[in-house]
Amino acid sequence: MTTSFAPRIFSGIQPSGGLTLGNYLGALKRFADYQGQGAETIYCVVDLHAITVWQDPEKLRHNTREVAAAFMAAGVDPSVSVLFNQSQVSQHAELAWLFNCVARIGWMYRMTQFKDKAGKNSENSSLGLLAYPSLMAADILAYHATAVPVGEDQKQHLELTRDIAAKFNHDYGVNFFPITEPLIEGTATRVMSLRDGSRKMSKSDPSDASRINLTDDADAIAQKIRKARTDADPLPGSMEGLKDRPEARNLVNIYAALTGETGDQVLARFEGQGFGAFKPALADVAVTALAPITRRMTEFMADPAEIDRILGRGSEKAAAISAPIIERTKEIMGMIRSR
Ligand code: AMP
Ligand code: TRP
Repeated sequence: MTTSFAPRIFSGIQPSGGLTLGNYLGALKRFADYQGQGAETIYCVVDLHAITVWQDPEKLRHNTREVAAAFMAAGVDPSVSVLFNQSQVSQHAELAWLFNCVARIGWMYRMTQFKDKAGKNSENSSLGLLAYPSLMAADILAYHATAVPVGEDQKQHLELTRDIAAKFNHDYGVNFFPITEPLIEGTATRVMSLRDGSRKMSKSDPSDASRINLTDDADAIAQKIRKARTDADPLPGSMEGLKDRPEARNLVNIYAALTGETGDQVLARFEGQGFGAFKPALADVAVTALAPITRRMTEFMADPAEIDRILGRGSEKAAAISAPIIERTKEIMGMIRSR
């Protein structure tokens, strides 16, 4: 079925602590690539999502600016894309409430991210942590976004976004919200921990050696790659041979994502070699790719007032798109607007 929705890309990143190579390869790097490809691009620092777990206010302000700086350092151009922070555009919270009354509680309990983050004592987690995916659906649907680039871990949330849109359309007998396509593409949709090939690289992992942070310097990057867990076997000629070697596969995938090659192309060059040769090569590639980004982030962070101005202008543009969509949503739901 063809829809009448104009192509529009939306994605968001939480300002809940430092960003990792996983965020860069799985999300940030791709955000810049979608610019100028025919779809409008809207990128958001989702501070309302971050507070579903405790955030120190001063750190939240810092981290919000840092994620905005990372977006720009990775190539997101605020004169091409709409770049803003979620809490400045009240339509997100407003639509999230409307969706809270469309979505079912059972859908929320099934989310693996909720189960992971809530842990054993889920009764004690914030109500916002449970309703988190409803706010995420609101982020996307407040712009009638048709496609959402994310890493693999967000797939379930995007399915729920589709469920909310479909239920709204069905309940009210309209074709108002698009059924959004997830864009989970490339060789690095799930970058794994450097210490454990079965866990995703995450800013919340207690071990700093498990991840490469976007703020790490060249020495730290080289050292973490040198110490990354691997096995003793030489590299095979194709990715097929890495099926049961998760740590080795992860390092090859990272290399491929950084250079824009496929895993097989990388392995064609390293076939028969061990990690003694591969790791220094990977460290070189990682430093070459990340050093300019780290430098640009630092430059942007030197002028926080300018970041705030950029976010302010982005928020105005975002509100201009989402406000009429929320007004129409309320009208469809039967709410009176008399001024
Ligand atoms: P978050 O930091 O949880 O707000 O995630 C921001 C974006 O980065 C989302 O699109 C995630 O799917 C993506 N992401 C986070 N960690 C990874 C990872 N280890 N590999 C690939 N993508 C990731
Ligand atoms: N939940 C996403 C994450 O943790 C962040 C996010 C919030 C998001 N709203 C979004 C991603 C809308 C894409 C679209 O990574």
